Amino acid sequence: MHDPQQDHDTPFARALWRIYRRPEATLWQDGGNLPWNDPAFSARMLAEHLDESHGAASRQAAERAAQLEWLWARLGLGPGGRVLDLTCGPGLYAVALAERGAVVTGVDFGPAAVAHARRLAAERGVAGRCAIIETDVRAYEPEPAAYDAALFLYGQLAVFPRDEAAALLAMAARALRPGGRLVVELLDPERVDKEDSTWWFTDDKGLWGDKPFLHLGERRWDKAERTSIERFTTLDLTTAALSEIVLCDQSYTVEEITDMLRAAGFGAVAVYPGWDGLGLYDAGEWMVYVAEHTDSHRPVNSQFFGRPGTFDT
Ligand SMILES: C[S@@+](CC[C@H](N)C(=O)[O-])C[C@H]1O[C@@H](n2cnc3c(N)ncnc32)[C@H](O)[C@@H]1O
Repeated sequence: MHDPQQDHDTPFARALWRIYRRPEATLWQDGGNLPWNDPAFSARMLAEHLDESHGAASRQAAERAAQLEWLWARLGLGPGGRVLDLTCGPGLYAVALAERGAVVTGVDFGPAAVAHARRLAAERGVAGRCAIIETDVRAYEPEPAAYDAALFLYGQLAVFPRDEAAALLAMAARALRPGGRLVVELLDPERVDKEDSTWWFTDDKGLWGDKPFLHLGERRWDKAERTSIERFTTLDLTTAALSEIVLCDQSYTVEEITDMLRAAGFGAVAVYPGWDGLGLYDAGEWMVYVAEHTDSHRPVNSQFFGRPGTFDT
């Protein structure tokens, strides 16, 4: 049978046929996360983190300030309190917490983000209270029972498959002293986009490349797994190089994440829908969980708190 691809055998034609013949993206394909630790991607992503015109990579400064105020109170932090910021990115929260007097360890594996976080801590004069560790958070082993609080912000726990997320929660529990608190921010399962969609755009440079490119996106909702699968395909228009990234995002019901927190060693779990009413542009899409690490010598508080304001601070 005649193969029409043979008629146009150029690098661009080959790239377009590859797109045309693409297999369906699969769950957790190639790890299912953005290439945060790729140096070029990390440098381009850092520009997005620091771009105050949008909050797609890190929230904008005024929103962060409101969150930090809330976190400080809900976590019962004070000067000298030890905080572990898991997937801290460019350190915008870690450094701000250190400026308030906390002693912070940030963990991230994006090289440009880590370099920025260290630079920022030095600039603000808090490098002695803000250590940034460059490693894959899944390989990180914290000092046991050393922290008063741990953070997993901006939905980052959801980009790991369930078993890895469970292991990460157990790691956070090991890091916390009895009574220490973990904050996990996850998309509200009711509000997650469950429609399949596609999109495209061109640009001269941006997150997806630093030369003119064509970007194609596909999103699919896996109903059985309650996971979104996005494929980002970028065609470099100067070289015909094609790159493909698959990002999966696991959705969790309140019951499911609460059970996982309990299994990891947490007791009381407070749930704050809509970021507890903070004025964030997308607050309504998020649920914030504050889980208290159990003192293994005390019985677990088995009551589930579905409303805010459940901890004394
Ligand atoms: C959306 S950003 C959020 C950063 C920060 N929490 C904030 O809101 O500014 C997600 C961060 O997670 C980091 N990350 C993703 N997977 C990681 C992994 N396996 N180990 C360490 N860091 C990871 C990325 O490098 C990136 O900096």
